[in-house]
Amino acid sequence: MTSADPARVPRHVAIVMDGNGRWAKLRHRPRTFGHNAGRKAVRATVENCLKHGVKVLTLFAFSSENWQRPQDEVGALMELFVRALDKEVDELHGNGVRLRFVGDLESFEPGLRQRMLAAMNRTAGNDALHLNIAVSYGGRWDIVQAARKAAEAVARGELRADQIDEKLLGQWTCLSELPPLDLFIRTGGECRVSNFLLWQLAYAELHFTDTLWPDFDEASLKSAIDDYARRERRFGKTGEQVAKKA
Ligand code: IPE
Ligand code: IPE
Ligand code: MG
Repeated sequence: MTSADPARVPRHVAIVMDGNGRWAKLRHRPRTFGHNAGRKAVRATVENCLKHGVKVLTLFAFSSENWQRPQDEVGALMELFVRALDKEVDELHGNGVRLRFVGDLESFEPGLRQRMLAAMNRTAGNDALHLNIAVSYGGRWDIVQAARKAAEAVARGELRADQIDEKLLGQWTCLSELPPLDLFIRTGGECRVSNFLLWQLAYAELHFTDTLWPDFDEASLKSAIDDYARRERRFGKTGEQVAKKA
């Protein structure tokens, strides 16, 4: 598969990995079968990002709203996270992947939280690909926790309220230390954001595909990257201004 012009490859890609339940239903299997199948698509996507030069990959694995699902599905997902962490971290580390978990990690039971922290610490020196897994994550939660940090700094007298601007608040949102989000992909056919990276999405390009997450393969990623490469990002300016700069 030929690679796109490196200058047109998105540096930061985020994916709402949706459609596992429907994929399983089509096969007359329980929803958890679909979640397990989704793990293979995660592995493939990580490899394909390394191959095609994507530097940051942020995956939505579990939303703050997904806690409302039936208890057995939530339990199965937690088990899947534990198993995946125990099995995949060696290989990710070997491939130079830096792993981060973003979201309300306090909401997980201590054993799982410890595994997440250990994996983050272990891979902290890697740089080939930054892999962020959003778990118990909500875009509104993200903005609220940033606002709370700002309020605490004001309360400590380190900051005046009138010093809070987009740049400052943005620094407290998740992933602010990484390149800005370029491409948002959602699989599974729904055209909605479902409380993913609300702040970070401001100028991301959006790509929606009907492909169900377990079927998302190299060709699917490539077609999203090619779609992105054809976009003109204007950031509020005119097409003429952008063309002159290029
Ligand atoms: C996404 O797939 C995975 C999680 C939300 C954890 P779904 O489980 O939402 O699959 P569908 O949308 O029901 O097909
Ligand atoms: C979004 O998918 C969350 C993840 C993929 C982790 P959902 O399946 O939860 O989204 P809705 O409920 O269809 O909006
Ligand atoms: Mg869904």
